[in-house]
Amino acid sequence: MKAVILAGGTGTRLLPLTRLLNKHLLPVGKLPMICYSINSLKEAGITDIMLVTSRHAAGMFTAFLGSGQEYGVSLTYRIQEEAGGIAQALTLSQSYIGDETKFVVLLGDNLYEESLRPHLDAFAQQQDGAMVLLKQVPDPERYGVPVFDESGSITYIEEKPSNPQTNSCVTGIYMYDSSVFAFIATQSPSQRGELEITDVNNVYASQGKLEYRHLTGWWTDAGTFQSLHEAAIKMMDDEP
Ligand code: DAU
Repeated sequence: MKAVILAGGTGTRLLPLTRLLNKHLLPVGKLPMICYSINSLKEAGITDIMLVTSRHAAGMFTAFLGSGQEYGVSLTYRIQEEAGGIAQALTLSQSYIGDETKFVVLLGDNLYEESLRPHLDAFAQQQDGAMVLLKQVPDPERYGVPVFDESGSITYIEEKPSNPQTNSCVTGIYMYDSSVFAFIATQSPSQRGELEITDVNNVYASQGKLEYRHLTGWWTDAGTFQSLHEAAIKMMDDEP
């Protein structure tokens, strides 16, 4: 299986730090944030990885990570010219994914402790469609929040709802079949001018093809000062 790490965006919630450095290069404990996604994929047996980032940051990523050889992975880079949203960034990986029927996408600001292996194995058994990983959080209004039907299936996901219906959030760990690119092509930018990954996931949900599993270990989206600080403390002893 191949993987795509999305490490573009503007990182406005972390200004002024992100005026100097791309969010995913900021230190988290002893390592730049991007290392945790790469280590997680490698641990799960995935070594073919595409990294999507901005024009401004690309040079620093290549200077730090190079071909990936030093880290035991093979890296391919793509430039996202404008921060047009998570789904727009994902379109840039279409030719890289090529004939692969299934692949995994990580948002590079998501940090977590458990192995992806059991989740990838479960997705490999799934006939087709997509899978998201959910996590119970105290502040679901910051995230995509799933809405379930009586049978426990996800009927749709609400992006940053003011009145979340559950305490679960959709983490930035997504597994897709190759139809994701056709689904993205049918989407229009949201009110904030971005192609939203939640809209794409909702296409799968509307077809009854959005499966989910729960992350049981610690997880955070390190996109705010508070969560970045918590992640640094948590990861301080992490020495992959
Ligand atoms: O962290 C999980 C959440 O991530 C989900 O619950 C939400 O449903 C999903 O929309 C997303 O929400 P955020 O508001 O946190 O997304 P953010 O704009 O911070 O971007 C998340 C990552 O995606 C970040 O690592 C950078 C990357 N990204 C983002 C944009 C907008 C790109 O590579 N390109 C982009 O254009």
